[in-house]
Amino acid sequence: MTLALDPVQQIQGTIEVPGDKSVSHRSLVFGAIAEGVTEVSGILNSADVRSTETCLSALGVSFIRREDKVLVHGRGLHGLQVASHVLDCGNSGTTTRILMGLLAGQAFDTVLTGDESIQRRPMKRAAEPLREMGARMDLIRGEFAPITIHGSRLRSIDYSLKVASAQVKTALLMAGLYAEGTTTIRGQIASRDHTERMLPHFGVKLEMADDAIRIRSGQRLSACPIRVPGDPSSAAFWMGAACLVRGSTLEIRNVSLNPTRIGLMKVLARMGASIDVEQTETSPEPSGHIRISAPHGLRGTEVLPSEVPSMVDEIPLLAVIASQAEGETIVHGAEELRVKESDRIVATVTNLRAMGIEIESFQDGYRLRGPQRLVGAKIDSFLDHRIAMSFAIASLVARGRTEILRPDCVDISYPEFFQVLQRIGHA
Ligand code: S3P
Repeated sequence: MTLALDPVQQIQGTIEVPGDKSVSHRSLVFGAIAEGVTEVSGILNSADVRSTETCLSALGVSFIRREDKVLVHGRGLHGLQVASHVLDCGNSGTTTRILMGLLAGQAFDTVLTGDESIQRRPMKRAAEPLREMGARMDLIRGEFAPITIHGSRLRSIDYSLKVASAQVKTALLMAGLYAEGTTTIRGQIASRDHTERMLPHFGVKLEMADDAIRIRSGQRLSACPIRVPGDPSSAAFWMGAACLVRGSTLEIRNVSLNPTRIGLMKVLARMGASIDVEQTETSPEPSGHIRISAPHGLRGTEVLPSEVPSMVDEIPLLAVIASQAEGETIVHGAEELRVKESDRIVATVTNLRAMGIEIESFQDGYRLRGPQRLVGAKIDSFLDHRIAMSFAIASLVARGRTEILRPDCVDISYPEFFQVLQRIGHA
């Protein structure tokens, strides 16, 4: 399937974006092992979150959906049941890695798999520390799904994370609940912190220091209401659109303002965007309203490796935005993009070049000088939702028509994306 998109004159409106994907996954997983019924409101209804729900259902958890609410009937820390079939994590790395941690310490075996993309993504990063905890798991060629997890007795470890991955950090915290003693996680812990915010909400005590997180085993979770804020990674596309299309102003309401997620917003402000933020909620997840415009256009910038974790999913979009900014933009320290749903450096550079942009890529980032003319072209989504949406935003200011091949993958995180685009983009 192909979707044709034409440039627009203006982006205007007030919108809300669907619930945060990371918070949605965690609310289902933590709710599943809590005692009582966890009511999750504002949950994202997308393919990735449904993957988590389907896997947990196979482990005996029941869910009741009511409009944008889900009631999770928790089974307690030791109440999950052996699944009668292989669990399909679909396209979701978050589902796969968090479940690796959760299932390592169960009294039964489980097999996890997923789509072609999942079967190419590195899983040793989670398996390795879990094995140090006593987990037994078999991966294809030591790295890939399908993953057979043999439920085992776990022991606590003191582990230094080698990649700034919230998925791995969460997997270890899950396993830490089942491991004897106190598990310490240190090293690259400065990734998104939704797990650290949500577990205490369920009554789990975490010891947090600047350089380490500690979790004591055996702590029971008690069900609690969760309100999922809008996803800043989905809002990012509209922020990009409002900055690119001259004369636009956009208000995005009830979106997460979690400091570990708003790297792109900070970078856009530094590039010259005008952003007003009104925070309305603080705990456990800060959220509020954003008003964004770029009346004077944008300037290029340097993104430092230390900034990457707070905008890791927005780096492809930033390349699109930077192609229209004055001067050089350079990104380093983003090698994780190579192992996302697609190789996002290849996907970004290939598509930008197809649209007439000169861009240099590195193993861990890219450099380009703007502004350059974007020209409508055939864009391959690489079956990666963030690539499809990033280049839909590029089409808004391209000369001529852009065709996005295989656009349906937006269903992974933002099923209504193209409808919203139609609503707020004025020809
Ligand atoms: C996520 C963490 C990030 C991010 C992904 C969601 C999460 O991945 O790219 O979209 O919910 O924990 P890593 O933790 O592997 O960097």
